[in-house]
Amino acid sequence: MATVPVALAALLAAAGPAAAGTVGSSGAGDPYFPLAGNGGYDVRHYGLSLGYDPSTGHLDGKAVITARATQRLTRLDLDLSGLKVTGITVDHTKAAFRRDGQELVVTPRHALHRRQEFRVTVTYQGKPKPVTDPDGSLDGWIPTDDGAFVAGEPQGAMTWFPANNHPSDKASYDITITVPKGRTAVSNGVLLGQRTAHGRTTFRWRQSEPMAAYLATATVGTFKVERYTTPDGLKVYNAVDPREATAATPVLKKLPSVLAWESGVFGPYPYKAAGAVVDRAPNVGYALETQTRPVYDSAPDLSTLVHESAHQWFGDSVTLTRWRDIWLNEGFATYAEWLYAEQHGGRTAQQIFDALYASPAGDDLWAFPPADPGSGAHIFETPVYARGAMALQKLRTAVGDKTFFRVLRTWATDHRGGHGTTAEFTRLAERLSGKDLDQLFHTWIGTAGKPSSP
Ligand code: ARG
Ligand code: ZN
Repeated sequence: MATVPVALAALLAAAGPAAAGTVGSSGAGDPYFPLAGNGGYDVRHYGLSLGYDPSTGHLDGKAVITARATQRLTRLDLDLSGLKVTGITVDHTKAAFRRDGQELVVTPRHALHRRQEFRVTVTYQGKPKPVTDPDGSLDGWIPTDDGAFVAGEPQGAMTWFPANNHPSDKASYDITITVPKGRTAVSNGVLLGQRTAHGRTTFRWRQSEPMAAYLATATVGTFKVERYTTPDGLKVYNAVDPREATAATPVLKKLPSVLAWESGVFGPYPYKAAGAVVDRAPNVGYALETQTRPVYDSAPDLSTLVHESAHQWFGDSVTLTRWRDIWLNEGFATYAEWLYAEQHGGRTAQQIFDALYASPAGDDLWAFPPADPGSGAHIFETPVYARGAMALQKLRTAVGDKTFFRVLRTWATDHRGGHGTTAEFTRLAERLSGKDLDQLFHTWIGTAGKPSSP
């Protein structure tokens, strides 16, 4: 093979970064999920129009994505897994595209300039399939016997719409779903309207507060629907699989009081709408805090309801910028369960902490530091949930109740509708307590192994 002359090689190297500087990157830069999200733009809004036929598993989709370029762009990526793309326009002009694994590579006719607002329209169709996560669990569009259970944490959003599929980019959503009459399609936020014609029903949902793609849902099934407005004006919409209704009803009755209790502890509930989707889905094995309206794969117990509700503050309103910080979601939601128990006649958070601390050094609980799970395969494991919550109990005893609850509320308020990182949280705790907490956080969230004292 001929070698490239030195001078030419230098020239190419010099041209490289400049040329690459006009192409949006294929990932948001998250080492746990390198291809999740994309670079070069920020999505403002997703307008999704979907049609789903549960009997064939076929989905028809149109996504209108309004975004803003953060750099000059001759090319940009979206994430989409499976499905067939039938056409793309950028600002109403036909654009070229190709598929490369989960990357949908779009080349607009005209380059987009930095800060330009633009609109990408993608039409697509096919039989959506869930993705298998590094831990072996399924997420995304998961077909059920009567519809689909739709939950996208961490990466499943791309199985049903083209997305900038990383929590660092939040956007508002309008989600319209058409299903056969008799089925219900439930999404996030407020139900704007519902209309039946020619044997099909269209549900129009609007999520106006910013939402991460993984928190979007469009769960379809045969559901019993319950709607009401709480005394403080919250619009509740519950959809329950009749096979789960007996077990779910008494728990869902408590939703308003759980949200009111959490508002008392964490500050005002961040959304206008609330509710639950209980959809029997035997191959799922988890619930997800889909924004405003968590999805449960079976009737939840009260503790799970408290957990998914707490995520509305911690995870949904205050969102991760990288998956490594997952303890900010799961440690906090788990701690909410402990606090709820403590204030409702159960064990105190300290008793739960003590019982966990008794776990032997070899236990999974101590396998890795909550703030550093090591890879995407471990983000939903015990150290993140239980030991993450233990770290908060340690913080509480170190700074006292008054400061601790102020920290939780300030965290939720200052980052409402936005993002937060572990470093920002520890700095906030230090600022409000006036204490140096380096050692505490280092031991409880930053170091593997069982700490030598509780
Ligand atoms: N965030 C969910 C919870 O409330 C767990 C989601 C698990 N997702 C998965 N693909 N395994 O704990
Ligand atoms: Zn959780």
